[in-house]
Amino acid sequence: MTPLKNDTFLRALLRQPTEYTPVWMMRQAGRYLPEYNQTRARAGDFMGLCTSPDLATEATLQPLARFPLDAAILFSDILTIPDAMGLGLYFSTGEGPKFERPLRQARDILALAVPDPNIELGYVMAAVRQIRQALDNTVPLIGFSGSPFTLACYMVEGGGSPDFSLVKTMLYDRPDLLHHILDVNARAVTAYLNAQIEAGAQAVMIFDSWGGALSEAAYGEFSLAYLQQIMNGLIREHDGAAIPSIVYTKGGGLWLEDIAAIGCNAIGLDWTIDIGKARRRVGDKVALQGNLDPVVLFSKPDTIRAEVGKVLHSYGPGNGHVFNLGHGISQFTQPDHAAAMVEAVHELSRPYHA
Ligand code: CP3
Repeated sequence: MTPLKNDTFLRALLRQPTEYTPVWMMRQAGRYLPEYNQTRARAGDFMGLCTSPDLATEATLQPLARFPLDAAILFSDILTIPDAMGLGLYFSTGEGPKFERPLRQARDILALAVPDPNIELGYVMAAVRQIRQALDNTVPLIGFSGSPFTLACYMVEGGGSPDFSLVKTMLYDRPDLLHHILDVNARAVTAYLNAQIEAGAQAVMIFDSWGGALSEAAYGEFSLAYLQQIMNGLIREHDGAAIPSIVYTKGGGLWLEDIAAIGCNAIGLDWTIDIGKARRRVGDKVALQGNLDPVVLFSKPDTIRAEVGKVLHSYGPGNGHVFNLGHGISQFTQPDHAAAMVEAVHELSRPYHA
């Protein structure tokens, strides 16, 4: 195994000492970068980009060519799994992702099957292998998946939703059906993440983007229990290296102790919680990733620097912090504002690691 030139991100996730706080940005490849929009135009559409290992590699590397980021994230989407289950993913302009065949009938739900990640999702594994080659051991590659509940939201609603009323009505009226979807999803996510690890992913992140729409009891029963199921089946070491895991529940600040108990290495935080308070609550159980409000990047570079300083100060001295935004970077962000954030993290974090 060739050592990484920069393994700061992996060390921070394992709460080992680093010289500075590593940083990457959720959704770092995307429409705020003009070069991404050019690549996407060449692909024809978004799924064309995901299914071409050459173009997925290009998109993955674009943010790294601009900013000295400490990690790369696979260019793909969380909705590849339900697409591979036959729901028919498409993107309608201006409306986000949609499914041609959303899950509404018991018959369709009971027919769901776990896709073979190396066959139906073989294009993702090909992209992982090609990206690892292109990265040439500069920085680690993050693999990812949606959480079983977040995937179920899109699968039942058929797309995004302001209130998730269809999936939540199923939760209350037909919990048996939702549990069936979630169990299939948890098995699919476990197999998918493990295949990404075998193809070369060096850390994995699970996006539970809509877990925060649930009540505390429902979160435990319908989201966290299935995150636990994934953690129980995840590969923890590959090729002699630890494979750290990050669980991000947007709106999960109320439930940090419960999330820390499922066996993940790190918790991703949104911007609503103070990271220092979060650190005191989880103690030395997990590392923390986050949590600058993405809207800070709309403000002046001096303001961005000051806000970065506040997050670093709140976390305080010591190990176990990966700097990130509290949610994905907005498509309306100016790239030089992202550059100001990355530079500020690297410069201002050194004293906390002395
Ligand atoms: O972080 C990265 O750079 C890697 C790529 C990545 C994408 N989506 C690319 C993408 C990752 C990690 C995701 C995760 C994802 N996808 C999540 C979880 C993170 C979160 O934001 O909460 C969710 C909920 C999705 C579902 C999804 N895919 C939505 C809601 C949309 C449309 C809205 C939007 O932000 O554009 C997508 C499409 C998508 N996925 C785009 C990109 C770059 C934009 C597609 C385009 O080029 O038009």
